[in-house]
Amino acid sequence: RLSRSLSITSLSGLPLWEEESLDVQDLLLFEVSWEVTNKVGGIYTVIQTKAKITVDEWGENYIMMGPYYEHNFKTQVEKCEPPNQAIKAAMDSLINNGCQVHFGRWLIEGSPYVILFDIGAAAWNLDRWKGDLWNACSIGLPYHDREANDSLVFGSLVAWFFKELTDQLQDKPNVIAHFHEWQAGTGLVLSRSRKIPLATVFTTHATLLGRYLCAGNADFYNNLDKFNIDQEAGERQIYHRYCLERAAVHCAHVFTTVSQITAVEANHMLHRQPDVVTPNGLNIRKFSAMHEFQNLHSMNKAKIQEFVRGHFYGHLDFNLEKTLFFFIAGRYEFSNKGADLFLESLSRLNYLLRVQKSDVTVVVFFIMPAKTNNFNVESLKGQAVRKQLWCVNASLYCIHRGEIPDMSKILDRDDFTIMKRAIYATQRHSFPPVTTHNMLDDSTDPILSNIRRIGLFNGRNDRVKIVFHPEFLSSTSPLLPMDYEEFVRGCHLGVFPSYYEPWGYTPGECTVMGIPSVTTNLSGFGCFMEEHVSDPSEYGIYIVDRRFRSADESCNQLTQFMFSFCQQSRRQRIIQRNRTERLSDLLDWRYLGRFYMHARHLALSRSFPGKFKMDHLNLAPTQGFRYPRPASVPPSPSASSHSTPHHSDEEDDDTYDEEEEAERDRQNIKAPFTLGAEPEGKSKQP
Ligand code: UDP
Ligand code: G6P
Ligand code: GLC
Repeated sequence: RLSRSLSITSLSGLPLWEEESLDVQDLLLFEVSWEVTNKVGGIYTVIQTKAKITVDEWGENYIMMGPYYEHNFKTQVEKCEPPNQAIKAAMDSLINNGCQVHFGRWLIEGSPYVILFDIGAAAWNLDRWKGDLWNACSIGLPYHDREANDSLVFGSLVAWFFKELTDQLQDKPNVIAHFHEWQAGTGLVLSRSRKIPLATVFTTHATLLGRYLCAGNADFYNNLDKFNIDQEAGERQIYHRYCLERAAVHCAHVFTTVSQITAVEANHMLHRQPDVVTPNGLNIRKFSAMHEFQNLHSMNKAKIQEFVRGHFYGHLDFNLEKTLFFFIAGRYEFSNKGADLFLESLSRLNYLLRVQKSDVTVVVFFIMPAKTNNFNVESLKGQAVRKQLWCVNASLYCIHRGEIPDMSKILDRDDFTIMKRAIYATQRHSFPPVTTHNMLDDSTDPILSNIRRIGLFNGRNDRVKIVFHPEFLSSTSPLLPMDYEEFVRGCHLGVFPSYYEPWGYTPGECTVMGIPSVTTNLSGFGCFMEEHVSDPSEYGIYIVDRRFRSADESCNQLTQFMFSFCQQSRRQRIIQRNRTERLSDLLDWRYLGRFYMHARHLALSRSFPGKFKMDHLNLAPTQGFRYPRPASVPPSPSASSHSTPHHSDEEDDDTYDEEEEAERDRQNIKAPFTLGAEPEGKSKQP
């Protein structure tokens, strides 16, 4: 039975939950991904943040599957017994045949069950399983491609598990298996070729060829229909991976991808039009007080300022109160993530700020993991010097709090010596380092090479300073002890000018934390925002046009965005952050999760048509909803540059009539998302 009922509306007018609910007692849902408990990139964020709403719907009948890594298991998973006899028996059957399979609860919100397969312990089957894959679909894997071989071992274990499970269940309950990305796709291909009774969904978060072609500087979007895809895959030595990906796409009952732009790409690169677009959401945590996220910004900014004090010691001739923190973060794909465009624009921004004699300084962080052998001495020394100065400061402050100090009484000779040494230690004869780590490929690294080319070396006259942190952030770091979320909150602007970005979580994460960001009209997120927000820049979402402009024009546009941002007063930034945060509802899984529900229903109706039917397949899933311009922005486009909050520029006032403005916006929001053309509130029982 598939049923559909009315939606509940959130504060901002968005429907939080339009039920298209299934009778889940008669079903089991498995979600399979290489990134279950194993963080690589954005797919981990999809799986992890979606867990809560999926467990809310499916309870104990929802199980995730991924690879077993001892460290991840020990730190993120609580071992337990499977709740279901059939699952236990299927696991035992693999274990009795020499494989290692682990079960537990993943310690994230929702505490979903996970089954993790030990790839290494089953690798002795690799040659046999290569033969099975060849017999199933004539795809051969070269011995040197470790990732592809791992994906085969993982897929073979998953398919074996499903065979054992469904043999016991005999369709009661029916099983839905949702696979993510090509590394998990092998399990789907093998399951289907063995005719295992599953309803299958395959979600791609990118296409292999798309990623490779874009990284290779192809004019990708203007030539989508012109590539000889087999040949391109062959030339890049990924033909076998591309075959696995394409096989998974074509074997799935339902094929989905994360954005419209990737749907078009998939149609060309994989020759199948996705059935459903499943945009990526987040698990939104709302603060009870509207200004709490502003306080968090302030607290975390102070931590970044501390780091900057140390890193730029001896060169701290800029005012930290007038310093803005920009950042880019993500996997190190230099041109796909737009780091090339960003660096070029920073060089132009530096020029503009210098010629305008601006008193604003911009410290830009590049958080992209590269090969290193630890922090460099200069960066560690900077933090040590800062701490030393802080100790001197603090002891002076403690000694004579509330009194007019008589220096000769409170400081003896030794104290003076310590002070002098601390002050001498702040002298520096070199520029503050651009990178915080010793880079293994220093001379060929693309970020460093470009910094050398544009000459942004953290000189005294530079208004744009660069800090390249080639490692993901961690609260245990001796240098910048903050986790990623804290860091984002403390910054002023996230800059993600991607060229290839099927979705792009990083700007979305900024949005829900109330931090403005730059994205592009080539990223799934940017297109989604363009579609659903009338004037994104007013809400602190700056969308660079990388589709219809030349690289130079895009670069100028990005420079202008950043330059205008630097001209905002503190008050304007505060108002803008409030607006940015108001868009969070749009990215809430409680709202976007419906597209996953729909994909599952569709898969059931296609794989078990006698039992599950669906009669509303004419979808227009993401059409019709738009956030209006913020109520306080005048309608004239000429007055609507992003720095428009038209109020006095008094610093430090974050209260003004923002709540009133938010309320007015809520009133303006009318049409909600709909899954079909049906009016809201009407329920249907196929
Ligand atoms: N991220 C992180 N730590 C960092 C930088 C990034 O955990 O220091 C996370 C970020 O929160 C985001 C993910 O990495 O969820 C990157 O996802 P995105 O979709 O933007 O890009 P992908 O890496 O999948 O291409
Ligand atoms: C938040 C705090 C304010 C603080 C402001 C700084 O809004 O609530 O007290 O003044 O951040 O903003 P800025 O954009 O200058 O970091
Ligand atoms: C992929 C894409 C990224 C997306 C993520 C999650 O890694 O490159 O754009 O956000 O998957 O879907």
